[in-house]
Amino acid sequence: MSFVPVISLSPARASQEISDEMRAACLRNGFFQITEFNHILSSELLSRTLSASKAFFDLPLDVKSALFKENHICGGYEPYKAMNLDPGDKSGYGHNEGYSVASSGYPTAWPAEQILPGFRATMEEYFTAVNRLAGVVSGYLALGLDLSPDFFGDFFHGQLAHIKLAHYYRPEHSQGDEGSVGVAPHTDWGAITILLQDSVGGLEVFDQDSLRWIKVSARPNTLVVNLGDLLARWTNDRYKSTRHRVTSPPQGIHRYSIPFFSQGHPDYVVQVINSCIRPGEVAKYNPIRAEEYFKLKFESTYSIPALIARDP
Ligand SMILES: [Fe+2]
Repeated sequence: MSFVPVISLSPARASQEISDEMRAACLRNGFFQITEFNHILSSELLSRTLSASKAFFDLPLDVKSALFKENHICGGYEPYKAMNLDPGDKSGYGHNEGYSVASSGYPTAWPAEQILPGFRATMEEYFTAVNRLAGVVSGYLALGLDLSPDFFGDFFHGQLAHIKLAHYYRPEHSQGDEGSVGVAPHTDWGAITILLQDSVGGLEVFDQDSLRWIKVSARPNTLVVNLGDLLARWTNDRYKSTRHRVTSPPQGIHRYSIPFFSQGHPDYVVQVINSCIRPGEVAKYNPIRAEEYFKLKFESTYSIPALIARDP
């Protein structure tokens, strides 16, 4: 099996075949790629969403900065080098700026329609489609665990989720010795992440067997899916949440990517699935509310004081 296998979601395929392939990937490292999902999310919408993302980041800095993301639930702008996913490493602030959109019912600081016509509609359309795709993928994941396909339904229904528009670049004054961190090594926090990216690439996944970083090539009309810590916890670590990182493109090249993060319904209590506890094992984790878990993760990662001290 490929390190990050490509799995077709073509409606012509049997559900069990798809879920078996996902199960194998989840047991190994929790990373796979999906293709042929046009019946859920069109390729036209993928490219339109990436174009809208680029248009947003082309806005003047003062316009973007007025849309500041205020807390872990809100959507909004995250300035250049706001994020360090390796809090113990001061050089872990990545060469990127971001803008997140929260699921409906949660606040997002949108740019005015006259400033960026159609942006909000495109993002909402993409959000709805990728959220539906996450629900479909979760059904296959449940099947792969010999659970009912709707096992994860209550977690995803009315969930807090975000799409995070990310723009990787190095400013003109950037020196070569600033390192090439786009995003420092980390695991994702939530249940599943679905990544839309342009053709530049930069995602690397750590291989526990060879102890090497493996590049995941950017393929057209393909999305990368990976499991987060919450799903690993839920399955008593049978399914894996694996460290990954992003290298920043060289100066002059810009990379755009849009991960979708599913954090679940805030009040949903994640409790180790009984059938994932093998004979002789015990549940490794206590039950936890999805929102509480997400807040703990967020607060250990974002460094607002560092933003004030840094001048992009
Ligand atoms: Fe990640």
